[in-house]
Amino acid sequence: MKFFIDTANLDQIREANDLGILDGVTTNPSLMAKEGVKGEKEIFQRYADICDIVKGGSVSAEVFATDYEGMLREGEVLAAINPQITVKLPCTKDGIKAVKYFSSKGVATNCTLVFSVGQALLAAKAGATYVSPFVGRLDDICSDGVGLVADIVSVFRTYGYKTQVLAASIRHTQHIIECLHAGADVATCPLSAILGLLNHPLTDKGLATFVKDAEKMK
Ligand code: E4P
Repeated sequence: MKFFIDTANLDQIREANDLGILDGVTTNPSLMAKEGVKGEKEIFQRYADICDIVKGGSVSAEVFATDYEGMLREGEVLAAINPQITVKLPCTKDGIKAVKYFSSKGVATNCTLVFSVGQALLAAKAGATYVSPFVGRLDDICSDGVGLVADIVSVFRTYGYKTQVLAASIRHTQHIIECLHAGADVATCPLSAILGLLNHPLTDKGLATFVKDAEKMK
């Protein structure tokens, strides 16, 4: 399973990248706004900076437009920033048409805001590179986010769709493990959830003993 980090914060992206396990980054308008990025110049510069940190990795940049023509206009500009850019488009009627447009041109796409197998199917048929089911937001409404990831993976494998299942809206470390077992191709996670994978009290206890015993030999 590939690891993407779900943020537009450069320090967090650097920290995850320095671990040597990062395959890409996802952003959305809310994550960009949280960083105080304003205006086209700053937005484009932020994407360029992110691409520079995760060299060779996929960087999802989401369009702000909700109409087909607007999505094409914005998507073309975003894709021109760097070949690493994946154009992120919402799973709406216009969004699916835009996914088809960009995939036909060989531009990588991430179809976002996916909450059902039916939406994932349309994204795959339109040729999306990634489809993003939102795990945490489904859990928030007492639905089964990881169950949806597993269902999409099963359908894509049965029918041989090439679209990668990108588990999004990951809220904590256990979500990562559950998406791993569900067969997700990618999980995009907050830094805290990635670092949480390292936590084990027996590792801490064992290391403390080794450090103490190593002292005896000095
Ligand atoms: C990433 O592609 C999604 O936009 C993001 O994971 C949504 O996460 P949230 O539900 O925590 O806002």
